[in-house]
Amino acid sequence: MRLKNKVALITGGGSGIGEATVLRFSEEGAKIVINDVNAEDANKVAKKVKANGCEVLVCIADVTNKNDIEDMINKTIEKFGRLDILVNNAGINRDSFVKKMSEEQWDKVIEINLKGTFLCAQVALGQMIKQNYGRIINTASIGALGNIGQANYSASKAGVIGLTKTLALEGARYNINVNCVSPGATNTAMTANMPPEIAKFVKEKIPLKRFAEPKEIANMHLFLASEEASYITGQVIFVDGGISVGI
Ligand SMILES: NC(=O)c1ccc[n+]([C@@H]2O[C@H](COP(=O)([O-])OP(=O)(O)OC[C@H]3O[C@@H](n4cnc5c(N)ncnc54)[C@H](O)[C@@H]3O)[C@@H](O)[C@H]2O)c1
Repeated sequence: MRLKNKVALITGGGSGIGEATVLRFSEEGAKIVINDVNAEDANKVAKKVKANGCEVLVCIADVTNKNDIEDMINKTIEKFGRLDILVNNAGINRDSFVKKMSEEQWDKVIEINLKGTFLCAQVALGQMIKQNYGRIINTASIGALGNIGQANYSASKAGVIGLTKTLALEGARYNINVNCVSPGATNTAMTANMPPEIAKFVKEKIPLKRFAEPKEIANMHLFLASEEASYITGQVIFVDGGISVGI
């Protein structure tokens, strides 16, 4: 049991990579807080966690709303007494070429992906400093390196990388490690509507010739949350089938 009695909060835990992380952490003995804006999905995942015999709290909250987040962390402390691990996973995309991108598309993606990560980390940090212990795992993307049609998403994820490094420097004196996982294309709702010809093109470019399964990203979350990663902080780890490596 690599997370025995650790308390872990996973944002966007109701589907895709977040759900896989919730389930992987619960298999390793963590007490789980599932955050999402989608109550139906979050409660479905909570049922699976309970079936594994683990304790779980569902917090329906928008990661862009500081009051919601403060409430969520307070409920976590009331129920479990502490917060050891935060996985900032909630995220969206609203793709468009720059010349056609609306301000709303730009703002929404930056707000959820970047500001949401900042706010959750900021509020969690308050508790983790009191404990002199914490692990924060942020979510970037291969898209942070640039991708046609994803200026908003790409900028948000590149921002998450910079945020991670600064959080790591500021957190280190309190024994808080902060890292970032940068997934490549992964089989979730986010990629489900990709036109088949684009999906085929992308897979051809990936050295491992396939998309990731959500569990393969969750495995990296687990490693970074575990004691095995105690001396790793400020790092960005690409879990992308090799696509970021080069030609
Ligand atoms: N799927 C991919 O190919 C891929 C690749 C790289 C990075 N990522 C990143 O991984 C993370 C998870 O993505 P996924 O593919 O599992 O997508 P997903 O759409 O399956 O899951 C995202 C979850 O976040 C929740 N969410 C959205 N806005 C929220 C908000 N304001 N507050 C709280 N929860 C909110 C959604 O309801 C959903 O349950 C995202 O940050 C995404 O950018 C995904």
